[in-house]
Amino acid sequence: MTLQELQQEHAASLAAVAAATETAALDALRVKYLGRNGLIPGLVKQMKDVPPADRPAFGKELGAWRAAFEQALAEKTTAAQAAAEPTAAFDVTLPGRWRAEGVIHPVSRVIEEASDIFHRLGFTVADGPDIETKFNNFTALNTAPHHPSMDPSDTFWFDPELLLRTQTSSVQTRTMLANPPPVRIVCPGRCYRRDTMDATHSANFHQIEGLYVDTKPVSLADLKSILAYFAREMMGAGVGVRFRPHFFPFTEPSVEVDFTCHVCKGKGCRVCKNSGWIEIAGAGMVDPRVYEHVGYDPDQVYGYAFGMGIERIAMIKYGIPDIRYLYENDVRFLSQMR
Ligand code: DAH
Repeated sequence: MTLQELQQEHAASLAAVAAATETAALDALRVKYLGRNGLIPGLVKQMKDVPPADRPAFGKELGAWRAAFEQALAEKTTAAQAAAEPTAAFDVTLPGRWRAEGVIHPVSRVIEEASDIFHRLGFTVADGPDIETKFNNFTALNTAPHHPSMDPSDTFWFDPELLLRTQTSSVQTRTMLANPPPVRIVCPGRCYRRDTMDATHSANFHQIEGLYVDTKPVSLADLKSILAYFAREMMGAGVGVRFRPHFFPFTEPSVEVDFTCHVCKGKGCRVCKNSGWIEIAGAGMVDPRVYEHVGYDPDQVYGYAFGMGIERIAMIKYGIPDIRYLYENDVRFLSQMR
């Protein structure tokens, strides 16, 4: 092929693109000119037969053709595709399309709100792993070696030293081991116990732990006041708070904390088993034995701790009658949380 013939082919190919209107025709042109057996690649192969003196001009023209053809083809293809779109009239009176909007899960919501309330009281959020050592979860928390909570029927053990934490109290140990006093933390997180699942129990649930230890005196009165503040912020001004003496290995004295039932406002109903109160937290003054385990001097520090059930709070705050709703991820349930 001579240079002149090459130029004629170049012009012809562009004319063909210009004349084509449908994508199928444009596709056929692409195959004809650029395909594996197409004209342009074929000419590139023939370059070696062109007399050396003519080769630069020949090569330059071939390159220019290819670039021009590809560009024309791309532009025309875009135009052809746009033209092929349906051009039905747009009805502005049609109702808009509705898209389901996600909601924050009630458990996450209580965790966020609780963390926020304690943040306002000067607590920072601490974290710990779900897989814990026996020491962090039990021993350092002054749990007696044969305490029933350590039984394999209550706790998921991996081996004699490793388990799925049964309480976020394990983060108390971690925090004190890693930091000198003062510490003021809350730790929300998952806990695991070998419980059979029913309306109020789950083998996997959430707690939020609190720990305040300082070299300046803090007392049970401080603990009561922050928990009462928390109750009002979380449940509203009308909530009542009750402290009952109790026992925990890691606090002395210990209390259990009840809020007035949100469903019946304390009158007594099915949810609170007619007592008018719902148990929300365990709490107390940190036991000196715990300080010894984490290397604090029990004579130099004062502290309180508390731990509460997230699901409990979510259930009474949002009137959820069965804990299982919280784990089924049924949108019909979740969308009510908007
Ligand atoms: N960890 C306890 C439980 O799971 C709750 C608790 C009680 C936490 C007293 C505390 C505390 O920090 O001081 O039942």
